Amino acid sequence: MSAPNSEYDPVEVSSLHPDEVARMVSDALSAFEAARDLDELKQARLAHTGDRAPLTLANREIGALPPQARKDAGRRVGAARREVGEALARRQAVLEAERDERVLVDEAVDVTLPWDRAPRGARHPLTTIQERVADVFVAMGWEVAEGPEVEAEWLNFDALNIGPDHPARTMQDTFFVAAEGADGADGADDSGLVLRTHTSPVQARTMLARTRQTADGSGEPGRGMPIYVICPGRTFRTDELDATHTPVFSQVEGLAVDEGLTMAHLKGTLDHFASSMFGAGITTRLRPSYFPFTEPSAEMDLQCFVCRGASVGDPERPCRTCGSEGWIEWGGCGMVNPRVLVACGVDPERYTGFAFGMGLERTLMFRHGIEDMHDMVEGDVRFATAFGMEV
Ligand code: DAH
Repeated sequence: MSAPNSEYDPVEVSSLHPDEVARMVSDALSAFEAARDLDELKQARLAHTGDRAPLTLANREIGALPPQARKDAGRRVGAARREVGEALARRQAVLEAERDERVLVDEAVDVTLPWDRAPRGARHPLTTIQERVADVFVAMGWEVAEGPEVEAEWLNFDALNIGPDHPARTMQDTFFVAAEGADGADGADDSGLVLRTHTSPVQARTMLARTRQTADGSGEPGRGMPIYVICPGRTFRTDELDATHTPVFSQVEGLAVDEGLTMAHLKGTLDHFASSMFGAGITTRLRPSYFPFTEPSAEMDLQCFVCRGASVGDPERPCRTCGSEGWIEWGGCGMVNPRVLVACGVDPERYTGFAFGMGLERTLMFRHGIEDMHDMVEGDVRFATAFGMEV
């Protein structure tokens, strides 16, 4: 190799010629400009700034130049690379901004669309509690009885010793069913049917069926006494819907007819029923009352399952659930009135019976702290889902 070529002119290294460098720069800039997205820009970047890019190769040539030429070429190539680098960064920023904007549009979520396309339903807690009540009694050997919601006036009232003058029969409480073609202007058009005002007619129906005293004489062959039946069902009264009333509500009726039944059996049954609804150890209290179809009759109170009586006389610890009474009224009960037994063909000398009936909405309201009847009847599935699912 000869001595260093001090006369070496960088212009003679063609890749370092100013025109050539300018061309490389302009090639790179137009390639960046032509890139329509970040992928294309990446290709352009590799082609114009990568290891094998003309400017990179040119840069490498600089080392071979004589010192005086190196500086000039270095400055020129350095400026060119800087310009290319800046153009690349600018184009990169533009394309990234475009991409971000496109993503915002393409991946936008329409928050007004339903988020749950196949929403799950829920069983109404009233249905669940009716089944639960039935289960509690079936586990004790009782049967589940049913009766029609459109009931004979005679079964709803007369058979239960509710005479024609009883206040429960006035138009205020009862939905009377008009006879076909009637104009409903006066009571003479009555069909003899009502929407049952309570589940108690199922008592009469059950006894009549067991004693073969049904109108068509069919009865239930071979099935007589004893009777242990429970009947949860829908009932109707002409009440306005408000926080504590609804014209369509539910009751559960219980009836036992056997030899030797006493109030003690009634009390024991109710205590068990109350514990299974409200928790172990809850007690019931019987308070003298009057129902035409039971004698003696009682109101059945529950010991308050929130304060368990501790709030009574203690102003420091008021209880909202029982109003600091210590007890909550739950339903009516008593020993089946012998007049009812007779009306239904049961020998009152041989058999005694006990019966009870309570509102299921009320039971649910206590049990779950539901404060407004509207929630129970409006049918919003969000109310029902909160109770979970019991199958
Ligand atoms: N049927 C009554 C009512 O709707 C409740 C009731 C009271 C049912 C006493 C009974 C009973 O079986 O013995 O208010």
